[in-house]
Amino acid sequence: MTAHPTTTSAARVLSCIQPTGEMHLGNYLGALRAWERDQRSSDAFHGIVDLHALTVIEEPGVVGEATLSLAAMLFAIGLDPEVATVFVQSHVPEHSELGWIMQCNVSHGELSRMTQFKDKTSKREGRFVSAGLFTYPALQAADILLYDTDQVPVGDDQRQHVEITRDIAIRFNNRFGDTLVLPEAVTPTAGARVMSLQDPMSKMSKSDESGAGCVFLTDDPATVTKKFKRAVTDSDTGPDAVRYDRGAKPGVANLLEINAAATDRTPQAVAEDYSRYGPLKADTAEAVVAVLDPIRARYGELLADPGELERLLRVGSDKARHVASTTLARVHRAIGIVAR
Ligand code: TYM
Repeated sequence: MTAHPTTTSAARVLSCIQPTGEMHLGNYLGALRAWERDQRSSDAFHGIVDLHALTVIEEPGVVGEATLSLAAMLFAIGLDPEVATVFVQSHVPEHSELGWIMQCNVSHGELSRMTQFKDKTSKREGRFVSAGLFTYPALQAADILLYDTDQVPVGDDQRQHVEITRDIAIRFNNRFGDTLVLPEAVTPTAGARVMSLQDPMSKMSKSDESGAGCVFLTDDPATVTKKFKRAVTDSDTGPDAVRYDRGAKPGVANLLEINAAATDRTPQAVAEDYSRYGPLKADTAEAVVAVLDPIRARYGELLADPGELERLLRVGSDKARHVASTTLARVHRAIGIVAR
């Protein structure tokens, strides 16, 4: 099956994000920015995947609060609830049900090869590692396949999960007949893999303990400037110290990519304007502040009205459920489950 069997001709776009902490520049440049930009030219669905977050959240009350603040952030970056369907995963129970069916169509060996599982478990040494962390990609496959998704705008780190989703869909279609649409991952040209400012070999991540390597979308201008000023580069001070070379100069390449993404240029073009690290850091901070300032202001306003956020999420979840239940019924028919 190559196109989604609904009436609209615009590509069906779906992507999701976990409510597990503060949003950062990697989330924005790798994914959210494209969600905002493409919402009008596509048929867009964006989920706050609270059930995925339960793989790592162990305290009561945390996930609900994080869901509402993430909703505020998604609307603050410019997702328009009248245009894009913004929903909560647990409000659409079809995710859990198709997630189980997906678990039955993926092998233990395939799941064992997921780098995110290996990364996350290694970071949880001595702590509880849930089975959900292992079967996570099956639920993610359900998120994507329930919406007959054509394109999944994500950062580089999620490519492998979209690949396994395709593999699961192909296996399902071979077993039960052409039922599921094969999705494709779409990553931005600059910003697909934003690295930590303190450790440019690791991706920028909300689990950064000190926060110094991670620029949060809520950071004020002084904090952003300080983080970029302290960004790790290298000791090379030659005339071509500023050049785009990810292998030899990962810290500098990261700054060039962030600058390029924030100013809509290529990292190579940005590099031509600089010979020293100081001005590159200062201008990159300034470009990022210009992007984040309006977002932070809108976020504050939206967060002040949780009732309205809940209402918007209910509207989005109702729309999502309409699509998801149709796909799940098709899956049930394909398998031959007795009709309810
Ligand atoms: P999550 O919540 O970790 O991240 C949300 C999005 O941000 C991107 N991202 C980055 N991009 C560039 N540089 C970085 N340093 C960086 N860090 C994060 C991620 O690639 C992602 O696009 N498993 C997913 C959530 C998910 C999902 C889905 C995504 C669940 N179901 C269905 C797409 C479709 C995750 O944990 O993303």
